Amino acid sequence: MRRPRAALAALAVLAVVACNPDDVVHHVGWFATMRHQRSFKPYSRNLAPVPGTVPVTGVAPTADLKSADRLTNSRTRTSESLNRGKFVYETYCLVCHGEAGKGDGPIASGPTGGFFPAVRSLVTDQLAKQSDGYIYGVIVNAQAMGRGLMPHYGDKVRGTDRWDLVNYVRTLQAQARSGGGR
Ligand code: HEC
Repeated sequence: MRRPRAALAALAVLAVVACNPDDVVHHVGWFATMRHQRSFKPYSRNLAPVPGTVPVTGVAPTADLKSADRLTNSRTRTSESLNRGKFVYETYCLVCHGEAGKGDGPIASGPTGGFFPAVRSLVTDQLAKQSDGYIYGVIVNAQAMGRGLMPHYGDKVRGTDRWDLVNYVRTLQAQARSGGGR
């Protein structure tokens, strides 16, 4: 009756030693090479983020009056971009700036008799000469661009929608120049 007991004790010891397979497995040569490889351990090296990366906190590159002109438009004026820009414009901007961008939207004060004061036309020569970055800056944060009477849209219009909107404003300006626009 001695033997089974000794075997049981040996098993118990083995169970305690072997309870973490990770501690045991790397004693076997072949597994050790997997553990001690030349890869980077998690968090052991900070990699520089890919250019244009937006932090997960959602703070996209913001603009102010000085840096806005240096922002580059990341969206070419394809029909896809313009269609998207038109949709975003009609969703957020038309109420004030009007269908053709003349500053005569349904809620703008002036001819239409709305209540919102000081709405500007988007199809002036003066604005046409401003950079894409300037218009982008007004969309993101009008206050920072010296256009404090316009509400804040940086939290509503996000990502590439902002540049698509800039592209669409350019289209409205071109239409106004060619005598189009309703
Ligand atoms: C609730 C009304 C309102 C809405 C909606 C609105 N704006 Fe404006 N916008 C204004 C007012 C008012 C100004 C003039 C602000 C000032 O001079 O302080 C302005 C100014 C601007 C300017 C600057 C024009 C210049 O001559 O410098 C741009 C560009 C512009 N808006 C674009 C947009 C775009 C794009 C949208 C849609 C996201 C939009 N706005 C939505 C009221 C509005």
